[in-house]
Amino acid sequence: MRFTGWTMIWLLLCLAFAGCTWAQNAQFWNIQAQDTLQKALTREASLNRNVAKNIVFFLGDGMGVSTVTAARIMKGQQAGMTGEETVLSWEKFSSVALSKTYNTNRQVPDSAGTATAYFCGVKTKEEMIGVDDQAVLGDCQSSLNAAVDSVMTDAEKEGKATGFVTTARVTHATPACLYAHSPDRNWENNADVPEAEAALGCTDIAHQLVTLGQNIKVIMGGGRREMLPDNFTDYEYSALTGQRTDGRNLVDEWLASKDAQTSHFVWNLDQFNEVDPENTEYLLGLFESSHMQYEGERTNEPSIAEMTEKAIRILQKDTDGFFLMVEAGRIDHAHHDGFAGNALNDTVAFDAAVAKAVELTNEEDTLIIVTADHSHVMTLGGYQSRGNPILGLVDLSSAEDDLPFTSIGYTNGPGGIAEQVSYKLFGRRRNLTDNDTENPRFTQPGIVPRESETHGGEDVAIYANGPMSHLFHGVHEQNYIAHVVRYAACLGNRQHCDEYVAPCGSGASSVPSGGVTMITVLLNLWLALVLPK
Ligand SMILES: *[C@@H]1O[C@H](CO)[C@@H](O)[C@H](O)[C@H]1NC(C)=O
Ligand SMILES: *[C@@H]1O[C@H](CO)[C@@H](O)[C@H](O)[C@H]1NC(C)=O
Ligand SMILES: *[C@@H]1O[C@H](CO)[C@@H](O)[C@H](O)[C@H]1NC(C)=O
Ligand SMILES: *[C@@H]1O[C@H](CO)[C@@H](O)[C@H](O)[C@H]1NC(C)=O
Ligand SMILES: [Zn+2]
Repeated sequence: MRFTGWTMIWLLLCLAFAGCTWAQNAQFWNIQAQDTLQKALTREASLNRNVAKNIVFFLGDGMGVSTVTAARIMKGQQAGMTGEETVLSWEKFSSVALSKTYNTNRQVPDSAGTATAYFCGVKTKEEMIGVDDQAVLGDCQSSLNAAVDSVMTDAEKEGKATGFVTTARVTHATPACLYAHSPDRNWENNADVPEAEAALGCTDIAHQLVTLGQNIKVIMGGGRREMLPDNFTDYEYSALTGQRTDGRNLVDEWLASKDAQTSHFVWNLDQFNEVDPENTEYLLGLFESSHMQYEGERTNEPSIAEMTEKAIRILQKDTDGFFLMVEAGRIDHAHHDGFAGNALNDTVAFDAAVAKAVELTNEEDTLIIVTADHSHVMTLGGYQSRGNPILGLVDLSSAEDDLPFTSIGYTNGPGGIAEQVSYKLFGRRRNLTDNDTENPRFTQPGIVPRESETHGGEDVAIYANGPMSHLFHGVHEQNYIAHVVRYAACLGNRQHCDEYVAPCGSGASSVPSGGVTMITVLLNLWLALVLPK
């Protein structure tokens, strides 16, 4: 870190006077850019080539770059600033790259195919859970020899403590790709698996969570219904039951397989708060029958930051290190419903979770990755003034139909239906003049009418910090992410640990041996032999 005296003075003045808006003369921007430049100049010398002992993998489901920008503005505005200048926790990370998200059979992907890519290292079709492209949707036979393992499974094999946290169901597409293999993401409980497919040996995802995933130390999210039998009344909602038709109670099975003193099942905030990480080896938290609530509507459930903290404190006790995955699973759901407010609010809550992980770990031994599976068709536009409310109407420019418009809009989705209805009734777009566009359940305008807004196809960002994070350096295929995790933490792949010489004293960096050169020589030899002359 190189802060000049002037930078410090400017920063202090800025903090003292709301958001620096008064101080944006040439000097302000020159000092700010010079500070960034000085840091960039020392980047090469300060690369962190350590072996990653711990990995925290953050996944914002549907958190495209436009969502990140808008959430940054919302976070700043919630703190009383203009918003645009705000820096999210992952925006301080040392490396940024882009991830190409398409599935092997889809230009615009889903969350299952993409999770198989970034967790298992192999791109596959949409809706596939931990199986490669040989597998066909809903076809058990095609998937039997197609399984690919995740970096979490690899970490467990290396003796690390493992866990995951999600605000979606624990059996939903993203977390499922950590521990399960299925040719259909919808096979969450036994009733979802057609009998003929089950007869071939395919099992539901919840079953795999308590069998293949039996050594996972921390499991937190929603999805009780996938684990409980259909004659079992839900803990929280008397009108709901479990959905399993095989009579199994997987929560009881999970508890029975663990030491009673150090293992806990919790389903509400009070129980969660009572869990002492120091005396807990295994924690299963299922806070909703289906997905957890949006951050802005949350009652009697821990926040994603609270779950992240609890998980890290439990996993950190393992001297071999840990792997933790944290998913903000409902940014995606809010976008599908056209609720930009909830999508952005959940992204701000995600930012707090990442900040908590940064606070509780050390960048010398912990690789933190923040990325998204895919984007959404949300965009931020208009020529509104600096500091204009992110969920509000554009203030400085008008539309040809003289009706106001919001900064945030969707190419398709429920907003398109709302406009269609307005055209039928009034022959024009909705008149939003007196509408509460900042309500978290306000449906932002859209064009194509669709019940569910769709994912977006443009690249998403990868933000990384800690050991070998500089390997994220350009425009990457999404499956590359898992390969960096394996390399950086020596999971299955020993290359980095074999080559790595621990630094002598603080600040010294490692000296790679001839391993890479050896591989290059062998590769050239092989190419010389196989390539036609
Ligand atoms: C549910 O049904 C099973 C048998 O299929 C039975 O053993 C169990 O006691 C029942 N549970 C409840 C809560 O009724
Ligand atoms: C965002 O969440 C906060 C609580 O964390 C809530 O007070 C606020 O109303 C929410 N805003 C929106 C737009 O959802
Ligand atoms: C939109 O609604 C506002 C307030 O209800 C009204 O003043 C305005 O004339 C309306 N705009 C159009 C184009 O109808
Ligand atoms: C928007 O405002 C109009 C007029 O005040 C009202 O009729 C309509 O229900 C409002 N719509 C929403 C989504 O708030
Ligand atoms: Zn989605």
